[in-house]
Amino acid sequence: MLTAQITGWGKCMPPSVLSNHDLEQLVDTSDEWITTRTGIKERRISHVETSELAAVACHRALAAAGRTPDEVDLLLVATCSGDSVIPSTASVVQKLLGAPNAAAMDLNAACSGFVYGLVVGTNMIRGGTNRVVLVAGAEKLHHLTDFTDRTTCVLFGDGAGAVVLEAGEGTDGVLASDLGMDGSVGHILEVPVDGTQGDRGPIDPSTSGITMEGQEVFRRAVTKMGESAVLALQRAGVSLEEVDLLIPHQANIRIIDATARRLGIDESKVYVNIASYGNTSAATIPVALTEALEEGRIQPGDIVVMTAFGGGLTWGSLVYRWGDRVEPLGVSDVELPPPDRDTMELLKPNFEFFGLPEKLT
Ligand code: UT7
Repeated sequence: MLTAQITGWGKCMPPSVLSNHDLEQLVDTSDEWITTRTGIKERRISHVETSELAAVACHRALAAAGRTPDEVDLLLVATCSGDSVIPSTASVVQKLLGAPNAAAMDLNAACSGFVYGLVVGTNMIRGGTNRVVLVAGAEKLHHLTDFTDRTTCVLFGDGAGAVVLEAGEGTDGVLASDLGMDGSVGHILEVPVDGTQGDRGPIDPSTSGITMEGQEVFRRAVTKMGESAVLALQRAGVSLEEVDLLIPHQANIRIIDATARRLGIDESKVYVNIASYGNTSAATIPVALTEALEEGRIQPGDIVVMTAFGGGLTWGSLVYRWGDRVEPLGVSDVELPPPDRDTMELLKPNFEFFGLPEKLT
């Protein structure tokens, strides 16, 4: 049977760090509050556009797969913080990569976007339309972050990850998936700007940043990630005991722990890197997958479950049986240009747009 197999993986995390201690200088918060309530210690702030983060992650994933950009026939970029409305971020990434044979499009399912992208890519391969698919999750969320709002500004970060998905034979690869959405409560996590709603007028900072009913999103995330993972496992005919590694969306360590508890999966089988990067939306899972492979947390034959929840409200899970190769075939020498400003300088445009954080006034 034709299957979709991950043959390459890569990430691109911008080097500028915003720590909890830095945030203590901006708003009324503390390292202790952020650490105990979210598990986050620091996040990255990008000095380049979302497309550039995605392109570097894609170069690295292609090198790991032993593929060149011209072999890619479909490029999917999952993002909710793309460079522009038109052209799509995928269009820019296609240009930056030099992938002229790739059809390309963005996919916005917020934090579930990468899982959605993997499912779309899988079915394009199974249907025989495509053979080499690049799926990236890339975000520059600090652009949408209002640093006058302590309830959201401590959560989000920037970064990108990507995988190469290829047509293959055998029993390895994507086994099953589940995707879902509840649009009736979409408003509890939103960024209204840049759409057609409302009259034309000056851009209003109060509708330009991420706003969230945190506790409500939290509650739904725990329920849906658990239910969705179980559904995908049932479709795959795989039991919870057979799961070797759970890679959950990294939004909050308490959501991750509660999801694992609901599923009855031991914490030793759960991949967590939220302390280093915070919530990078569509990028969390491909970045975590890449790091899990780099750290030897995935072995040949392992059952890996990815599960996500985010704006929309969306959710999605995917069950994957890993093949023989857990090492990259090659390494890319493509790097981001170094930042020309420090982290606080990178945040200045936000302060000018949304207003100065209270401790800077
Ligand atoms: O990616 C998918 C979408 N996102 C998520 O899944 C995130 C889901 N939600 C969450 O992770 C959590 O709800 C948050 C981390 C956002 C908030 O944690 P919480 O435990 O639900 O806190 P809370 O909203 O109940 O706030 C508790 C208190 C409040 O003070 P009072 O009213 O008890 O006096 C807040 O004002 O903590 C206060 N607070 C803060 N204190 C210090 C809120 N933000 C901060 C802060 N520093 N940054």
